Amino acid sequence: KKYNISVIKGDGIGPEIIDEAIKVLDTVAGACDFTLEYKEYLMGGIAIDETGVPLPDETVTGVLASDACLFGAIGGEKWDTLPRELRPETGLLNFREKMGVYANLRPAIVYDELLNASTLKPEVIKGCDIMVVRELIGGIYFGKPRENDGQKAFNTMVYTKDEIIRIGKQAFEFAMKRDKRVCSVDKANVLEVSQLWRDTMEEVAKDYPEVELSHMYVDNAAMQLVRNPKQFDVIVTGNIFGDILSDTASMVVGSIGLLPSASTGDKTAIYEPIHGSAPDIAGQGIANPIATIESAAMMLRYSLGEEKAADMISNAIKNVLKDGYRTKDLAAYDAKEVVTTAEMGDIIAN
Ligand code: NAI
Ligand code: MG
Repeated sequence: KKYNISVIKGDGIGPEIIDEAIKVLDTVAGACDFTLEYKEYLMGGIAIDETGVPLPDETVTGVLASDACLFGAIGGEKWDTLPRELRPETGLLNFREKMGVYANLRPAIVYDELLNASTLKPEVIKGCDIMVVRELIGGIYFGKPRENDGQKAFNTMVYTKDEIIRIGKQAFEFAMKRDKRVCSVDKANVLEVSQLWRDTMEEVAKDYPEVELSHMYVDNAAMQLVRNPKQFDVIVTGNIFGDILSDTASMVVGSIGLLPSASTGDKTAIYEPIHGSAPDIAGQGIANPIATIESAAMMLRYSLGEEKAADMISNAIKNVLKDGYRTKDLAAYDAKEVVTTAEMGDIIAN
């Protein structure tokens, strides 16, 4: 079998971490008898420098024609003074919208080997395994009208029933493969949109009788994630609540360099670490590639159906952490040996 993978390395540590993910992907492909063919596309600051725009048309067409997209990160100080429509981050938002990736999946899995890397107590987080399913291309970030005239400003929170159904289905499908519990997060006590959200989730739940659906207000959910994160299995929520809660959930795990994500919809899915381009450490060979390598595992699992290869990667990461190999960000947590970005890629691949 052969798969076409579009690759966007981007800026800062992007190229460094993507190279390690490709190294590991090629290793498991060899072991599991399939081939990955990569095509590189530009986005972000490097695209601005080389083509004048943050999201060249060629990138959109190329990614749409591929089986899956592996993406590093974009952005950096050099491009921060450009007008908003020309900035790297605008390229990324437009990219997500053009790809129709309405579901952002962010697993927050605590590694037993890194229990003390979190700011929470080890006994609170041990065994924690949460999947946050965030709606990504609707809600208040995209709703119209929006305006700011200098005296008054407003945004609009809109969700249609269809949008809620499609993200709800994603969450319930995940729950079926996990612990069969969905917690839908909203603010139905004060928001109309949330009332529709809650009613619609109840409707979706009827098709999944094995799954237990609960509802939680977002303010309480923020508190519960920090108080007792293990109570959650799948969390499903809208764009702005999911943005905030998935960052909260990431701190339950520890380093930002560990957290992968998938953005999926009806077209090509995008797999990327949750962190940015980390310009402060770019070019030094110290970035943690694990978030990106685990994102590659998600790609094998969800877009290519190569479960075995995906499990090989996830298990290799666990073993490497158990053996005490750490990149610099995790050097303080039971490190037996502190390794570079490329060494970490080699060790995981081996
Ligand atoms: P960031 O996530 O790039 O970095 C935050 C902190 O975490 C930094 O101290 C960095 O060194 C560290 N860090 C991040 N990834 C790491 C890794 N793999 N290993 C070790 N340490 C790591 O966020 P920041 O600094 O707010 O943004 C930097 C640039 O990235 C900005 O231009 C921002 O717009 C962009 N950005 C891009 C994203 C994307 O492409 N998806 C997402 C978030 C930010
Ligand atoms: Mg965010």
